[in-house]
Amino acid sequence: MKTFIFWRFLFTAALAFAAAACMPLQVPNRHDSVNATAISASGSGSGGSGSSVAAFKATVYPIVTAHCAACHTSINQPFFAGPSEQSDHDALVNAGKVNLDNPAASRLVQRLGQDMHNCWSNCASNASDMQAAIAQWKSLLQAAAAPAPPSAVTAPAPVVRVNSVELPVPANVPGPGEAAANFMTLTWTLASAADTIVPDITGATFSLDIQKFDNFSYRVRNPRILSPTTAVYVSDVRISVNGAIRSNDTTYSLVDQIVAMSAGGTILSPASMVMLMDKGPGVDKLALSFVKINASASGGCKNLAGFQSAVKPVMQISCVRCHNAGNSFDMVTGTDANICARTLGRVNLTFPSNSNLIVLPLTGTGHGGGGNLINQTTANSWVTWINSER
Ligand code: HEC
Ligand code: HEC
Repeated sequence: MKTFIFWRFLFTAALAFAAAACMPLQVPNRHDSVNATAISASGSGSGGSGSSVAAFKATVYPIVTAHCAACHTSINQPFFAGPSEQSDHDALVNAGKVNLDNPAASRLVQRLGQDMHNCWSNCASNASDMQAAIAQWKSLLQAAAAPAPPSAVTAPAPVVRVNSVELPVPANVPGPGEAAANFMTLTWTLASAADTIVPDITGATFSLDIQKFDNFSYRVRNPRILSPTTAVYVSDVRISVNGAIRSNDTTYSLVDQIVAMSAGGTILSPASMVMLMDKGPGVDKLALSFVKINASASGGCKNLAGFQSAVKPVMQISCVRCHNAGNSFDMVTGTDANICARTLGRVNLTFPSNSNLIVLPLTGTGHGGGGNLINQTTANSWVTWINSER
C-alpha cells in the first residue's frame, strides 16, 4: 500500500488522497486499469499487463473469437470478435455490452441466456461461462499489481488555460446505457465573469453529456461549443475532476479546430471518454481546460484574402445555387468574413484534404448536391488555403 500511495502521489496527489480516504467502494488499482484502457474509440488504452485489455484478452476474448467471430468481426455491430483484442475490448466497453459491476447484467450474458442468440451449445451453460469470464475479467483488474514507479516524473502537458468554474456532477447522474436519457448535460458559460479563461466570446457555452459508467467511472460524450456571435478556435480540451487532470484522460486533447459561429452548437469530437471518479456523484466537480480557446479574428479566418481568392469564386459558380439562405451551410448571407467563418466550421485543420468542404463536393459521398462539383486542382488550392488557417 505504501508503494501504491507513493506512486500515486507522484502523479496526482489529490486523487490519491481522495481515493484512499473517501471512497471505500473503489478499488484503487482497478481505477487505473479501467480508466487507462476503457477509453476507446481513439485507442488510448495501453494494453499492458494489468490493464483492462490484458484482462479481457485472458477471459472473454477467447470465447468471443471462438464463437462470435463469424458475424461480429466486420458484419454485425458491435465488432468485438475480430483479431485485435484492443479494438474488441474498446467496442464492447464503448457499446456498454459488459457490466463489470454486475457481470450477470452484461448484454453479452443476456444475449445468450435470455435471447438465445447464437449459443454454441446450451444457452444456459454458455451464458454462465460468459458470466464467469466477465467476473474473471473484473477480478483480474482488481488484483492487478500497482504499476512500477516511473524512473522520472514526467511533467503534465502544458495547459494554458484552466477554467476556474467547476460544475458538480449531479448526485442523480444516470447511466449506463446509450440512450440520451442515460446522460445529463453539464454546461459551462465561457464568457462568465467568474471564469479565468474569459475568452470574451459573447454568449458562448461549452456542454458535455455525462453518465455514471460504473461504480468507478464517468463516461462523457458530445463535448460541444455553441457560439452565437463569432467563430471560436479551440484546441486540446481536457476535463479536470476536483482540480486534477489525469494523464490518461486525453481523448479530447486531439481537438484542434475552428468552431463556426452557430446557434446550434458544434460537436468537437465523436468519441466518448471514460474518466475515473474521485469522490463520486454529488461531490465531484468538473472543470475545463484548453491549450487554446479564443474568438477567431475577422470572424474566424486568419487568411480572409486567401479565402476570397481561392474558395469564394468557386463557391459562387458551383455551390451557391443550393448553399444559400436556408441551407445549413449558407455561402451567401453576410460579409465575406462571415462566410469564411462558416466555411472554417467545415474544414479539418489536422487533415485538410479530409475536410467535408472538399470531400463532399469532390466525391459526392454523403453530399446532397452530389459529386464532381470541384476538380482536384481546386481541391489542392483549398488545401493550401486551409493550411494557412492553422
Ligand atoms: C450468425 C451471426 C451472428 C453470430 C454468430 C453472433 N451474432 Fe451477435 N448479432 C448478430 C446480429 C445480426 C446482431 C444485430 C441484430 C440483433 O440485435 O440481433 C447481433 C447483435 C449482437 C449484440 C448487440 C445487440 C444487443 O442486444 O446488445 C450482442 C451483444 C451480440 N450480438 C452478442 C453476440 C455474442 C456474444 C455472440 C457469440 C456467442 C454473437 N453475438 C454471435 C449476429 C450474430
Ligand atoms: C445541387 C445542390 C448542391 C450543390 C450545387 C452543392 N451542394 Fe453542398 N449540400 C447540398 C445538400 C442538399 C447538402 C446536405 C443538406 C444540408 O446541409 O442542408 C449539402 C451539404 C454540404 C456540406 C455539409 C453540410 C454542412 O453543413 O457542413 C458541405 C461541406 C457542402 N455541401 C459543400 C458544398 C460545396 C463546397 C459545394 C460547391 C463546390 C456544394 N456543396 C455544392 C446541396 C448542394
